[in-house]
Amino acid sequence: MASESTPQQLLATALADGLAQIEASDSTDALKAVLTGLTGKKGSLVAIRSSLGKVDDLEARKALGQLVNEAMTTLEEASVVRSRALRANEFAAQIEQERVDLTELAMSAQASRRRGRMHLVTQATERLEDVFVGLGFQIAEGPEVETDFYNFEALNMPPSHPARSMWDTLFIESDIEGSVVLRTHTSPVQIRVMKEWPPPIYAIMPGRVFRKETPDATHMPVFHQIEGLVIDRGITFADLAGTIESFTKAFFGPGFTSRLRPSYFPFTEPSAEFDIRRPDGSWIELGGCGMVHPHVLRAGGLDPNEWSGFAFGFGIDRMAKERHGVEDLRDMYSDDVRFTEQFS
Ligand code: PHE
Repeated sequence: MASESTPQQLLATALADGLAQIEASDSTDALKAVLTGLTGKKGSLVAIRSSLGKVDDLEARKALGQLVNEAMTTLEEASVVRSRALRANEFAAQIEQERVDLTELAMSAQASRRRGRMHLVTQATERLEDVFVGLGFQIAEGPEVETDFYNFEALNMPPSHPARSMWDTLFIESDIEGSVVLRTHTSPVQIRVMKEWPPPIYAIMPGRVFRKETPDATHMPVFHQIEGLVIDRGITFADLAGTIESFTKAFFGPGFTSRLRPSYFPFTEPSAEFDIRRPDGSWIELGGCGMVHPHVLRAGGLDPNEWSGFAFGFGIDRMAKERHGVEDLRDMYSDDVRFTEQFS
């Protein structure tokens, strides 16, 4: 068994221990507690001092008392040094925590003031609508999910008609009899308008259309078309050509002209494709058109002996791409505001 420690040994241990505790305290609060534990009324050094009463020799008691006082002073001085260091750290931490980043503030203020812009396709659609409204047309819309009837059959394409393969169709699973598709063009809206509006009809029908395409620079599986439909008495192919020409000048400018090329669509007869000639002599292939087929007039509830009409349809995205010199259609749908911001 170890012999009982002398007061000097106890003091030396308490001092070393106290200095270590002071050095280890990691906050000014912790330091205060440590100091109270050492030099406070119930502190370990005070306990040692009280025990000195048991030392009989006066000189020895005085010397020990002196040592205790010195130890006290040493500890207090060490704690002052430690406290200064801790306070400096705590102050720095507080400053860091309460820091206000004015750069961010300034940037968010700027961002909230930044004005949004319409997507290129929306801009083009609105301009097209303006031009056609100016020519006396009304605007109609139809559903993006269509039945086989509206997308094909009413447009003179009975089931298994070979012309259906002109559109790579996306089908929807449903309980509805016959197939349900994502509309492959805006032409089904022709039928809906004919059924709903009493003729004469001068209507345009913009909207999203869907085809089973792999996205590349010139194709997207989702894009936009605008359909035109005119139904009146005595409408001829000349009215169609004249309307396309008026639209071309109004939309593109007086230096542009249009031409029609014979083509085929099941829902128009005769059918044509139309191109726009730029002032520099180059051509933009725009879309399809033709005289509404009698079967289509009947599907729309109209008597072909009384009414005749023409229809046209073209892609809006392609046109916006041409107009703004966008190289890749996919950029238009990249969700990158830096792209949209270029066109205001
Ligand atoms: N719907 C046709 C297409 O998507 C375009 C068209 C519309 C052709 C109206 C003739 C008449 O290709």
